[in-house]
Amino acid sequence: MSSLLVDDIGELVTNDFGGEAGPLGIRRDAALLVEEGRVAWIGPARDAPAADRRIDAGGAAVLPGFVDSHAHLVFAGDRAAEFAARMAGQPYTGGGIRTTVGATRAASDDELRATVRRLHGEAMRQGTTTIEIKSGYGLTVADEARSLAIAAEVSEETTFLGAHVVPAEYADRPDDYVGLVCGPMLAAAAPHARWIDVFCERGAFDVDHARAILACGQAVGLGVRVHANQLGPGPGVQLGVELGAASVDHCTHLTDADIDALASADTVATLLPGAEFSTRSPYPDARRLLDAGVTVALATDCNPGSSYTSSMPFCVALAVREMRMTPAEAVWAATAGGARALRRDDIGVLRPGARADLSILDAPSHLHLAYRPGVPLIRQVLRNGVPQ
Ligand code: NIG
Ligand code: FE
Repeated sequence: MSSLLVDDIGELVTNDFGGEAGPLGIRRDAALLVEEGRVAWIGPARDAPAADRRIDAGGAAVLPGFVDSHAHLVFAGDRAAEFAARMAGQPYTGGGIRTTVGATRAASDDELRATVRRLHGEAMRQGTTTIEIKSGYGLTVADEARSLAIAAEVSEETTFLGAHVVPAEYADRPDDYVGLVCGPMLAAAAPHARWIDVFCERGAFDVDHARAILACGQAVGLGVRVHANQLGPGPGVQLGVELGAASVDHCTHLTDADIDALASADTVATLLPGAEFSTRSPYPDARRLLDAGVTVALATDCNPGSSYTSSMPFCVALAVREMRMTPAEAVWAATAGGARALRRDDIGVLRPGARADLSILDAPSHLHLAYRPGVPLIRQVLRNGVPQ
């Protein structure tokens, strides 16, 4: 059994709050031993055991790999012109989704695969070690199934989003489209998916359609997540709580009742500040959620329309600067919070038995992720204990 020691860690963020550890479960002057892809031991560097191989962190900070719990990587084309129009004052409505659906349907499997692998690699180089990937730009039985099959080649966290919008050919008969999603499309998608998601928003799916679709997914064993309350107030968040969703995502427009519902549930509120940045919209009120005791995650929402970034460090910086999260809250939300949003306890945390997914920073502290925005601070990434 081969072992690897990550040694001379100046600041180790564990997210493990046992023992003496303070905020983020930080340990100083630490070392971490990896065996068979898992964390085998964590302790003071001076007590580090012998190992077959050694990585010298040189006093830098080490943190759990980012868990990006919301991304749309399976698509073709881009919408740079739509972005430019928005920056010139056009509002974001989600109407461009159909443009990407057209391009995605016209693309070959290999073209879609190349895009997924490119964006996946881009995310990994920025410290993401787990990324959830949604379908949702195919919107036919065959295109949703192939989108998920391609996503499943790079991630075990795949989400069926056949209910992203009603495609143009069903525009005047949305009930029929809901029937297709719940019937043949779900049957073709479910073997490649762990989750089901619906864009519950004015202009996409109303609460009755969303409830029906999510219930069909639950009935075949998929976990629930919801795109909710992005463009305006609405019933999505409370629907997610009602159905026991792992996460409700966006949460940009929340009422007190939404916050109360989240505070008394184990549904995570996943905030996607890249979307507000790229649509020039007001940011969600993260402080209100945190102060109410809601579990908050941060994710990229990487997609060609509303948030074309794969960078979790960028989202951490936005969360701190624009949403008034503390750096510790933002780093927790981007690691352990994302793991909660995916109902995982083996990632987003560094403790014996957890997956050895971590980043070594080119910085002495996690604070630098927000303090040095836009700077490539990820020096080295380990996934399953393997240096990438
Ligand atoms: O999460 N809101 C719905 N879906 C995506 C945007 C998709 C697009 O504009 O292409 C989102 O922001
Ligand atoms: Fe999204």
